Amino acid sequence: MLDLTPKPEDLEPIERASRKEIAELQLERMKWTLGHVYQNVPLYQEKFDKAGVHPTDLKTLEDLARFPFTVKNDLRDTYPFGMFAVPMDQVRRIHGSSGTTGKPIVVGYTRNDLDMWTDMVARSLRAAGVKPGMIVHNAYGYGLFTGGLGLHQGAERLGCAVVPMSGGQTEKQVQLINDFKPDVIVVTPSYMLSILDEMDRQGIDPAATSLKVGVFGAEPWTNDMREEMERRLDMHAVDIYGLSEVVGPGVACETVETKDGLHVWEDHFYPEIIDPETGEVLPDGEQGELVFTSLTKEAFPIIRYRTRDLTRLLPGTARSMRRIEKITGRSDDMIILRGVNLFPSQIEEILLAIPGLTAFFQLHLKKKGRMDAMDVHVEARSQASGENDREVLAKQVVGRIKDVIGVSVGVTVVPPGGIERSQGKAKRIIDERNL
Ligand code: DLL
Repeated sequence: MLDLTPKPEDLEPIERASRKEIAELQLERMKWTLGHVYQNVPLYQEKFDKAGVHPTDLKTLEDLARFPFTVKNDLRDTYPFGMFAVPMDQVRRIHGSSGTTGKPIVVGYTRNDLDMWTDMVARSLRAAGVKPGMIVHNAYGYGLFTGGLGLHQGAERLGCAVVPMSGGQTEKQVQLINDFKPDVIVVTPSYMLSILDEMDRQGIDPAATSLKVGVFGAEPWTNDMREEMERRLDMHAVDIYGLSEVVGPGVACETVETKDGLHVWEDHFYPEIIDPETGEVLPDGEQGELVFTSLTKEAFPIIRYRTRDLTRLLPGTARSMRRIEKITGRSDDMIILRGVNLFPSQIEEILLAIPGLTAFFQLHLKKKGRMDAMDVHVEARSQASGENDREVLAKQVVGRIKDVIGVSVGVTVVPPGGIERSQGKAKRIIDERNL
């Protein structure tokens, strides 16, 4: 693979600043943000008053722990614009995320917010090894989802030519990759798998395409998946993270030279890790729930937002800003099976280590009597695999899951094409318990 490490002089000074400089900037910006929300968002004013804290109580970054959390329900309760901190005539864009139930989450951006977000996506792409002059094939969905437009504007700002393909039309995705010869693809990892599958179908060798970097995010994916994609596509696979409530993609990103977790752009987003049960702030290095406070946002500032994403904070490596470890999963996606906690990402790891299987899988949750049970449905790799081979593979998976996770599950290995293809975020869990 090509060495795409950015030159030190291409980085912004803040990316190489000392911890002290970063902390000073964060404190100044945090004070501004707390004042801004207290003055302009009734929900924050009520919450702060109820907790007996005032923005002027923040003297150090650690004092943030005295302020109340914000949760998804706060956004639902104020739907659609109740948490906007500026008048509508200053809002230039509205995005949303559909969530699993009911009303979408709605977020807004001023001109400055869009500028900052664009800069952070450009910074992320540069970290991922993307260079000005490259062609970027964008297969994240355009629309209310922040993925498509977010990556689009960041890639343009970095100086790239963007192909705004959006999600879907998989055959055409492959055709355009073939014809336009992009250097970069930005897409969810599960949709990349669907595109790879279509390349196989068309007899195109993925390793022979023009692609040099894939920037994958919007859903959890494992290091085993990275190995698989890097091998099959002969390109770098880099992780990008973000969420609508904070800004969209570009909150944190891996660097192509280390691929060792995602550097959080701490000059704009302040991370904390908390114990999800008690809400207590945990020291760096400990696993817990990721919480974010925006430091510069005007239209939709957010204070101590509980992401539900599970990870830990690690010191900086390729940049001075801290990293989050690759996300294991969301607390909402944690399956508790007869007392054992498990995440879809653990199943992905096990399946990818077995040569006859693909990463196309779904977990069906059922009731067996009063107990919960889980069936793993996974697709076999080759057309040649007959029923007997698939049964042998299934037994192997049952054994591995029992050994590694310590729980008995059912496993069905289906023929190639048997699992629904993702065009965006994959649906890994099918809950049939209340049917
Ligand atoms: O998924 C923003 C995004 C778009 C990120 C494109 C990266 C690339 P939402 O739809 O609001 O925003 O979903 C946010 O997706 O809380 C995580 O649970 C999950 N997620 C996002 N990136 C990653 C990642 C976008 N790299 C939610 N690894 C977040 C694991 C991720 N999970």
